[in-house]
Amino acid sequence: MHKIISKKKLAPKIIRFTVEAPEIASSRKPGQFIVLREGEKSERLPFTIVDSDSEAGTIDLIIQEAGYSTLSLCALEEGDFITDILGPLGKPTDIKNYGTVVCVGGGVGTAVIYPIVKGMREAGNHVITLNGARNKELIILEEELKEVSDELIISTDDGSYGVAGFGSTILQGILEEGRKIDCVVAIGPVMMMRAVAEVTRPYEIETIVSLNAIMIDGTGMCGGCRVTVGGEVKFACVDGPEFDAHLVDFEELITRAGYYRKEEQCQMKKLADQLEQEKA
Ligand SMILES: Cc1cc2nc3c(=O)[nH]c(=O)nc-3n(C[C@H](O)[C@H](O)[C@H](O)COP(=O)(O)OP(=O)(O)OC[C@H]3O[C@@H](n4cnc5c(N)ncnc54)[C@H](O)[C@@H]3O)c2cc1C
Ligand code: FES
Repeated sequence: MHKIISKKKLAPKIIRFTVEAPEIASSRKPGQFIVLREGEKSERLPFTIVDSDSEAGTIDLIIQEAGYSTLSLCALEEGDFITDILGPLGKPTDIKNYGTVVCVGGGVGTAVIYPIVKGMREAGNHVITLNGARNKELIILEEELKEVSDELIISTDDGSYGVAGFGSTILQGILEEGRKIDCVVAIGPVMMMRAVAEVTRPYEIETIVSLNAIMIDGTGMCGGCRVTVGGEVKFACVDGPEFDAHLVDFEELITRAGYYRKEEQCQMKKLADQLEQEKA
C-alpha cells in the first residue's frame, strides 16, 4: 500500500500527487514510468515518474482525468492509499551532452518532459523548452520549467497566454532562424509528436518521442503496447517508451489507441449515471 502524502490541483482536471514509494524513489531515472492499481480490482494504469525525493521516499505523479479510472484516482485525497505501484519501468532517457536540446511538451506531456529537461540541463546541454497547451488555464509547471531551462517559450493554441500557436510551429521558426539544434525531445498528443517529427526530418536532427501506447502489464508480456518502429515490432513498455520519432509508425499508434473507445465511453456513461443517482 502506498500512502498519498500530498495532493495539489495544477489545472482543471490535472492533479499532482506525492506518493510513498521508497524503492522506486531511490532508483528511478528520467523517462521511466510506473504502473499502478488504485484498488485490488482496479485497472492497471501507466504514469510517468515526474520527480522523486529519495530521502523522503516519495515519487511525484501528475495525472490528468482522461476517463473512468483516472477520474477515480484524481478523487483520492491526502492520507488515502494506492494498492500497488510497480516500477521503475521502461528504459531511461538517453541523457548525455548533445549540445543544444529543444524539449517540446504538450498538455500533460509537459509533466512527462519535465524530468528530461532537468536531466538534459544537468548533463550540460543548453536546453530550450517549449511548453504548450490548449489555453492559459491548462499550462502546467511553468515556474518549475523556468528553473531548469536555459530558455522557456510558453504557447497556447488559442493565444490566451504566451505565443499563439503550436510547439511544432515555434520549433520550425527556431530552425528557420538557422540556430544549431542537436537533439529534439517531443512529448504530448500523438498529433503533436508526429508534427514535430515532420519539422525535424528535413534537418536530420535526432528526435525522440515518448509513445503513450496502451499498456497493461508494463513488463513486455501482454503485447498491448505493440508499436512499429523502423519496420520492426517493439513493445513500448520494455523497448521504450522513447523511440526515434523519424522511424515511428504514428498511424498504427493512433489506430491502436482507439481500439477500446467504445468500452471506455460505456464505462464513463456508467459513472455519469451512478453520480446522477447519488445526487438524486
Ligand atoms: C508510458 C506512459 C506514461 C504515461 N504518463 C502519464 C502521465 O504522467 N500523466 C497522465 O495523465 N497520463 C499519462 N499516461 C496516460 C494514462 O496512462 C492514461 O491517460 C490513462 O491510462 C487513462 O485511463 P482511464 O481509464 O482514465 O481512461 P480511458 O477512458 O480508459 O481512456 C482514455 C484514453 O487513455 C488512454 N489509455 C487508456 N488506458 C490506457 C492504458 N492502460 N495505458 C495507456 N493509455 C491508456 C487511451 O488513449 C484512451 O483513449 C501515460 C501513458 C503511458 C503509456
Ligand atoms: S504493456 Fe504488456 S507488453 Fe507492454
